[in-house]
Amino acid sequence: MIGLPSLAVFTILLFAITCSRRKRRRKERSGTRDIEAAFECNEVDGAVSTEDLIKFQGGKDLIVQEILDAPGEVIGKSSYGTLYRASLVHSNTPTLLLRFLRPTCTSRMKDALPIVEFLGSIRHPNLVPLNAFYAGSRGEKLMVHPFYGSGNLAQFIRDGNGEAHKWPIISLIALGIARGLYHLHRSSEKPIIHGNLKSKNILLDSHYRPYISDFGLYNLLNTTAAQQMLEASAFQGYKAPELIKMKDACEESDIYSFGVILLELVTGKEPVDDNPNPDQDFYLPSAMRSAILDDRIMELYHPHFLLGLSNDQRVVVEHCILGIFQLAMACCSPSRLLRPDIKEVLNKLEEILQ
Ligand SMILES: *[C@@H]1O[C@H](CO)[C@@H](O)[C@H](O)[C@H]1NC(C)=O
Repeated sequence: MIGLPSLAVFTILLFAITCSRRKRRRKERSGTRDIEAAFECNEVDGAVSTEDLIKFQGGKDLIVQEILDAPGEVIGKSSYGTLYRASLVHSNTPTLLLRFLRPTCTSRMKDALPIVEFLGSIRHPNLVPLNAFYAGSRGEKLMVHPFYGSGNLAQFIRDGNGEAHKWPIISLIALGIARGLYHLHRSSEKPIIHGNLKSKNILLDSHYRPYISDFGLYNLLNTTAAQQMLEASAFQGYKAPELIKMKDACEESDIYSFGVILLELVTGKEPVDDNPNPDQDFYLPSAMRSAILDDRIMELYHPHFLLGLSNDQRVVVEHCILGIFQLAMACCSPSRLLRPDIKEVLNKLEEILQ
């Protein structure tokens, strides 16, 4: 799987030479930023570096220089990297999602390579696949994914009063995320721990089908950068209370984060408190917390779910919502051992929603 055939290297070199002038012209014209600008000094004396583009299923036709030359639009930033939407000119896959990892934040290539190989082999209808991986001479790393048309789940929830906020779509999103997580935790001998599950890391396609992204990514980061990722996730309300070090992320901490996403989906509210209390068992907005404690959870769900439904349909949907609340609460249990595992979660969700 590793290695660029020599013919392809030759093609890339040719391509780079013939393109360099055209590229400059295009840059001036379009005003967008080349992905290559993220990679400092990849061109030395006019020659491009010929590091390998490691290709996985779905990435066979990709050409490294075409990706690096593609005009990119920044769609997300974090402490360890940047997400781009890149538009390829001559390709069967005209739009890609590119994740550029900052060189200082990543582990050495020698350590990263087996992880990349493994992440590149994971395929499931609810997981964002890794189609290719590129490592530059200065430690720059680029992950190539398909692009999905409807942004991420956090945006969906935030923007949400539209047509899409109907109960059938919400329940399919919940089920899809659970199926993706089930695949991560159960499809290989050793569970693949996501480590940073949150609504921002759930991408949606034009039919609002969910795709989990960023799974296992913390394994590619150095310890400091991974720890910063965990702190950011705590700040946003997804971190299980027992989790102190990123390297200790486990199935149960993923389940906790999944529970938070369920609550977010059903309430339409972000899981952060203006005034988080560190003594609290879990971080939820105070309105949500007190309603849960007072057994008034049915006041919390997104009012849009019931619009236009008959009384009979309302009863059914409310029953589902109550079931999801209870499941979410179990997932967010302060005690790791009391949380259901992903098999139980998926069974329960299917039972509630079917
Ligand atoms: C790890 O990443 C951080 C950025 O998060 C960086 O400042 C630090 O230098 C890196 N440490 C090592 C040992 O590479």
